[in-house]
Amino acid sequence: MSAYPNPTLHEGPNGLELEGVSLVALAERHGTPSYVYSREALSAAYRAYASALEGHRARIFYAVKANSNLAVLNLFARLGAGFDIVSGGELSRVLAAGGKAGEVVFSGVGKSAAEMRQALEAGIRCFNVESAAELERLAAIAAQMGKVAPIALRVNPDVDPKTHPYISTGLRSNKFGVAFDEAMTLYRRAATLPGLEVSGIACHIGSQLLDPAPVAEAADKILGLVDRLAAEGIALDHIDLGGGLGIRYKDETPPSPAAYLAPLLERFSGRSEEICLEPGRSLIGNAGLLLTRIEYLKPGVEKNFAVVDAAMNDLARPALYDAFHDVVAVCPGSRGTPQRYEIVGPICESGDFLAHDRELNVAPGELLALLSAGAYGMTMSSNYNTRPRAAEVMVDGNRSWLIREREQVADLYRGEQVLAAD
Ligand code: LLP
Repeated sequence: MSAYPNPTLHEGPNGLELEGVSLVALAERHGTPSYVYSREALSAAYRAYASALEGHRARIFYAVKANSNLAVLNLFARLGAGFDIVSGGELSRVLAAGGKAGEVVFSGVGKSAAEMRQALEAGIRCFNVESAAELERLAAIAAQMGKVAPIALRVNPDVDPKTHPYISTGLRSNKFGVAFDEAMTLYRRAATLPGLEVSGIACHIGSQLLDPAPVAEAADKILGLVDRLAAEGIALDHIDLGGGLGIRYKDETPPSPAAYLAPLLERFSGRSEEICLEPGRSLIGNAGLLLTRIEYLKPGVEKNFAVVDAAMNDLARPALYDAFHDVVAVCPGSRGTPQRYEIVGPICESGDFLAHDRELNVAPGELLALLSAGAYGMTMSSNYNTRPRAAEVMVDGNRSWLIREREQVADLYRGEQVLAAD
């Protein structure tokens, strides 16, 4: 196990470097808090999937929700990925980044009529339909537009992914997908609707999965259903097994993409359907970090606090899921005695913490890096406390690119109005 979950992060003469770029230099150039990503790390993560899938009829649809920066989307498009989207906004981003509509699948339980029209107009590859009502709405809209919507039903296989309850999605009690027992009836219905073309089947059981067994169990159920549909003359061309592969945040030992996919590919041998995957976190999570500066060290009676300039609005995962992100000093040194700190932001809530009880040997003004923050970091950030969102930077060898400017305060109240009358 390397010291850091991102192999492109290493110690240099002036503290930590991502690829060939010093984090101290990036903080000086772009300020803090900033998200910093490694192009090599995200490319390597993609290549690990691509090589595991080589020789198979397979396709990767990067889950845009994990990190939707245009530069990130553009790099994945260039690597050959399609995209899994959950909103019209994400579709616009994919197209703006140079992605192709024909390589887009559209998931989500609440697609609006406007989003369906936008996606039909663009000509996306498939709608992953999540309810009977959505199926009817999509069929009607497509027919009105004189188009045919390619569809997969997202089926809820009712397996326990053994992950955090907020990010498990394949249980019967979750809001996602159509119930397994309802799927046959809905496929028969879909096959009769002129606005629809039945193309595939989809499922996604949860996120940060560390054990391949539940996905293989879901695949067995799905393949059984596919065979029963074929026996009725409803032939499917692709089987989408969603995303979900976990990453190392602390001491987890997730399977490699190859090990995760092996039991699935085994089940597909001798079958003609295309296997589709929607990974997000495992492609970008460990490629990114959040760079932040210590404003104050605040010794306390019970706890010591390191107050940093990033907060829960920048990285919501600790506050939301009690998620662990490793915290490392960018310039490690022996300046004094290491202390244990609560790493907290400036927001006016006790829930505004980034990490608990971490041993650090640091001084005010120094830089910290919160690791494994490339997925569900920037995309879940907010402007709470009127805090402009962070800058984003992509490192590529010895070069770095500002891929999103830091927001300005004036951006935050653009569009707001005071009352015109007394
Ligand atoms: N496909 C569908 C239909 C999904 O709902 C998701 C994630 C993915 C693919 C990608 O899953 P991944 O490969 O990234 O695990 N905000 C949470 C994670 C929420 C995941 C939601 N769906 C977090 O920060 O942990």
